[in-house]
Amino acid sequence: MQAKQRVLTGITTTGTPHLGNYLGALKPAVAASQQVDTDSFYFLADYHALIKCQDPQTVHRSGREIAAIWLALGLDTDKATFYRQSDIPEIPQLAWFLTCMTAKGMMNRAHAYKASVDENQRQSSADLDQGISMGLYSYPILMAADILMFNAHHIPVGKDQIQHIEMCRDIAMRFNHTYGEHFVLPEAMVDEGEAKVLSGLDGRKMSKSYGNIIPLFAPADELKKLIFQITTNSLQPGEVKDPDTCTLFEIYSAFASQEETLMIRKAYANGIGWGDMKGQLFEYLNDYLSPARKRYDEIITDPAYIESELQKGALKARAQSEPFMQRLRSAVGIMSLVGDLGAKQTLTKAKKELTQEEQAKVNAGKAKAMEIAKQRAEQEAQQLALKVDDLINAITISNDPKAAGEELRAGLQTQIDGAKKKAKKTLQQTLELLEQRLTS
Ligand code: TRP
Repeated sequence: MQAKQRVLTGITTTGTPHLGNYLGALKPAVAASQQVDTDSFYFLADYHALIKCQDPQTVHRSGREIAAIWLALGLDTDKATFYRQSDIPEIPQLAWFLTCMTAKGMMNRAHAYKASVDENQRQSSADLDQGISMGLYSYPILMAADILMFNAHHIPVGKDQIQHIEMCRDIAMRFNHTYGEHFVLPEAMVDEGEAKVLSGLDGRKMSKSYGNIIPLFAPADELKKLIFQITTNSLQPGEVKDPDTCTLFEIYSAFASQEETLMIRKAYANGIGWGDMKGQLFEYLNDYLSPARKRYDEIITDPAYIESELQKGALKARAQSEPFMQRLRSAVGIMSLVGDLGAKQTLTKAKKELTQEEQAKVNAGKAKAMEIAKQRAEQEAQQLALKVDDLINAITISNDPKAAGEELRAGLQTQIDGAKKKAKKTLQQTLELLEQRLTS
């Protein structure tokens, strides 16, 4: 079906993408989009944004910023399909179909939901579901719709999203089992080196919700300030330090080459001071990020350009989502009452899954139809015979029956040659029967 491997990923449009997002999703995604054997789908998950953020301005601004980031990182929008989730009306439609295929028990185990329940528990809240919306609860289903809508094979995500991809597979399997094979089962694509979740300023996982992020395109002075805020221990310069429990080293090694990382590892053994190390991390990151940051600063001031790119992507995406959704609608039995191609396909498919009783009904219907066809054929044969009887009579009573016969045959043949398909067939049958009768 699809020769190319399809890679798809989305980024929620709340807040500002940070270094963790870059390593977990953006970087591998842009790299994948440049490969000839991949077909990439990247989108702004603005419906997902509504789960966490009810500030319209933030949702709107963040969408623009994130689009600008993708473009600044060099995404080729002619090769990749780059779009905004909310420009694809089929996605929420599919989300509903999938909701009806999702076990509630599985959703109870979703990390994002469970973390909120745990937090309520920690705060001894009387209601463990306090402040938890259905949006948060069914978040993995909307995500599954994003993925299955385009039958993506590989989903580059941070490690924290692996569970959602597994849920997506589960939902897809159940849909396929119920309605036939419609969905590819996706796989999470987590770059081994980056499988570890990146730590933030306070040493916890870098996350918007912890307020401990380093924005990807923070201006140099802000980047510096943030790096100098990273929590370290109280070891003094000259004391041997453990790189493997240090956020500074973790971030450095996530960006640097193996050799560069090895050098820094040695510096830890030689007791590099924290101030020194922070300076080195800043220099490294600033050099690494500044070319793309410069492009970003240009793009962000040109919303019309960003919008035109998104519209181009929406057009490409909908060329797929529209017909696919049509097929899925038919598959579940939601279609026009007078039928269409999709409907016919589904009905033939459904035949396989009929119960014995239903199968008996279908067989009875078929038998009846065959009986009617047989009766009709008999009637036609009778009429033909009567017609030929008349012709024979006419010949017999003529002066020269032989010549009259010849003349009739020739006349019929001329008519046959000039006649259209259906009339031709009747005339031919007449001639054949006439000949049989004349020669017998
Ligand atoms: N949930 C993802 C995140 O917060 C964003 C996302 C939404 C996504 N839909 C997706 C990622 C589909 C991959 C595929 O990071």
